Amino acid sequence: MGVFVSTDDPGPAGHEQVAFCQDRQSGLKAIIGIYSTALGPALGGTRFYPYASEEAALADVLDLSRGMAYKNALAGLDLGGGKAVIWGDPDQVKSEALLRAYGRFVQSLGGRYYTACDVGTYVADMDVIARETRYVTGRSVEHGGAGDSSVLTAWGVFQGMRAAAEHVWGSPGLRGRRVGVAGLGKVGRHLTGHLVDDGAEVVATDVDPRALEWARTNHPGVALVADTAALVAADIDVYAPCALGGALNDDTVPALRARVVAGAANNQLAHPGIEKLLADRGILYAPDYVVNAGGVIQVADEIEGFNFDRAKLRATRIFDTTRQILRLADEEGVPPAVAADRLAERRMADVGRLRAIHLG
Ligand SMILES: NC(=O)c1ccc[n+]([C@@H]2O[C@H](COP(=O)([O-])OP(=O)(O)OC[C@H]3O[C@@H](n4cnc5c(N)ncnc54)[C@H](O)[C@@H]3O)[C@@H](O)[C@H]2O)c1
Repeated sequence: MGVFVSTDDPGPAGHEQVAFCQDRQSGLKAIIGIYSTALGPALGGTRFYPYASEEAALADVLDLSRGMAYKNALAGLDLGGGKAVIWGDPDQVKSEALLRAYGRFVQSLGGRYYTACDVGTYVADMDVIARETRYVTGRSVEHGGAGDSSVLTAWGVFQGMRAAAEHVWGSPGLRGRRVGVAGLGKVGRHLTGHLVDDGAEVVATDVDPRALEWARTNHPGVALVADTAALVAADIDVYAPCALGGALNDDTVPALRARVVAGAANNQLAHPGIEKLLADRGILYAPDYVVNAGGVIQVADEIEGFNFDRAKLRATRIFDTTRQILRLADEEGVPPAVAADRLAERRMADVGRLRAIHLG
């Protein structure tokens, strides 16, 4: 599979750097992808996953690192976009030596890439990686880290949802609105708390009985439905996908009764064209990577020395960014997902260009 974009490619610049890292003794096989450092060092998590092939691992890291450049740009961070994958089954091969070997490769990039948690890697792993590199976030509080990033992810989703509500109904308040939360995991639980506090009626579902039990115990007013199909078809005003990717697809969008979609799950649009289907049905989609940026805002704050209040303030601004994107989408006559991409590209170009000013 080719990595380089040919010089006559009219699209975005392509990836700056892709580093293949191997340590045979520990079994480490990792790929670090840096899409852009136009705004600063690249930040993005490390996914530890048993890919079917090296090509699949490479395709994922290229895709994910590009996505992080857009997410970090719209989060207002002075950070570029990167991501890493470790190819293997974490349950079989994860070890101190493997993680530390990986940490040394991250260090070898000299600060061009900061890592963090992703699928298959956890706060405790970041603490191990931090024994070999300074360029790691998502560490435990005891090690100067930001802790569980779902706290500000949920706060940011709530802010993005309020901005979308304002766009559709003229007021950001969610009191009396019915909000469907699909997935009562780490983010879904915090989000449910914010919604209940704001006076919204929450309808929720989860495949895990423990998550349902959590809802019954902590929020007895939350209505529980059998599955996401029932939630999508329910009489809800807002749909918040907080479980897996691909939540908005050819089955769910035609059945959806909500006017607004705003949720934490990554890659909610199952394929290109779904954003158009949503727009045609009059459903306002607050782009996932805009509203779920609270997590990266939380871990990025570690680079300055973690301060929760500062990070929360930044995550609160997701309200303004979402509002700006929805207005731009109207002005330019494009779906919000397209407007978000344009705004991110604009910031990367406008602010990234400033490096050309010689500082003497
Ligand atoms: N945690 C973060 O900081 C963060 C940041 C950005 C994006 N996200 C994304 O948000 C989503 C939720 O993240 P999380 O940290 O809460 O994960 P989590 O694993 O804690 O929670 C996911 C929940 O979804 C449930 N679920 C899985 N399949 C389901 C289905 N088919 N129907 C209903 N429920 C289902 C699971 O049982 C679990 O309770 C993920 O897509 C994640 O990538 C998370």
